[in-house]
Amino acid sequence: MKGIVFNLLEEAVTDAHGADAWSDLIDAAGVSGIYTSLGSYPDEEVLALVQAASAALGIGTGDVLRWFGRTAMPLLSERYGSFFEGHPSARSFILSVNDIIHPEVRKLYSGAGCPHFHFEDNPDGRLLVGYRSPRQLCQLAHGFVEGASDHFGESAEIEHLLCMQDGHPLCRMAISWS
Ligand code: HEM
Repeated sequence: MKGIVFNLLEEAVTDAHGADAWSDLIDAAGVSGIYTSLGSYPDEEVLALVQAASAALGIGTGDVLRWFGRTAMPLLSERYGSFFEGHPSARSFILSVNDIIHPEVRKLYSGAGCPHFHFEDNPDGRLLVGYRSPRQLCQLAHGFVEGASDHFGESAEIEHLLCMQDGHPLCRMAISWS
């Protein structure tokens, strides 16, 4: 996982809970805590930090990832405003992730393992999102969708129809906005 993700997590945790909380997480997770944005670090370190936060807050790891994704979006919009420009809605922004956002991210951060999503319109009007990644971070994606929806002043309803965490080969989410 690229260091930028750890940098965003540090900023989100520090803003919400203070610098000491981040130090406590580093200690509890048993990780180095030194991350440069362009560096690459083991996926296990981010998972260890998420697990430490889950234990400290008494909430599930999925809730921590969702919170992180939602909280990271305004930080991403500060750093990468151009990805948000010209989009009329969260749906339009999210549909640009495969063709624009993540390809640009891969150019900026060599070796980034950004996921590819499968998008499909459901007959009921919802957006169906297929996700498959060895990291199984669908709850992070869920939080990103919520954060993007906040950015566009919308509210997203996200239903997980299938989940890799339950042993399915992929995750599938159905999203509607109001
Ligand atoms: C400004 C917009 C965005 C930026 C700058 C961005 C950047 C990144 C970066 C740097 C990573 C880490 C890759 C690595 O460390 O190897 C990542 C991973 C990821 N991104 Fe994005 N992203 C953006 C938007 C989104 C959106 C809209 C979604 C989904 C709705 C999304 C879903 C994910 C997920 C789930 C991962 C975790 C890696 C995995 O699943 O294997 N991202 N992204």
